[in-house]
Amino acid sequence: MTNVLQLSDLDIGFNKGDILCSLSAIDDGSAKEFIYRNGNNIYDIFIQRQGENAFAYTNVCPHAGTPLNMDEGRFMEKTGRYLMCHTHGALFQLEDGFCVAGPCNGASLTGVEILVVDGNITVG
Ligand code: FES
Repeated sequence: MTNVLQLSDLDIGFNKGDILCSLSAIDDGSAKEFIYRNGNNIYDIFIQRQGENAFAYTNVCPHAGTPLNMDEGRFMEKTGRYLMCHTHGALFQLEDGFCVAGPCNGASLTGVEILVVDGNITVG
């Protein structure tokens, strides 16, 4: 993963360790989207749950800058192996956001630092 965003570095009031949501608030195999705003700055992130793990990225495709999803909570392609941009079909590895197929092959999503601690997803 080349780019990583620290929520605690942004102007939206987060500190490391702050709870974003409980892991159980996200259905296994689904994602939850969070949109934070401060003035003109808008941060659209999503957290994809896979079992007891969770992975977070900004909801911006490196190809054309569109959001990845079209439906709420649906960021994976149908086999459940890759995150998919629904605009032109780029596929990204869940674990590191690296694009393995599509028009932005070789680029990466911007990761968001999170941790799973005692059943909660926290700012990393
Ligand atoms: S905008 Fe995502 S693949 Fe084109």
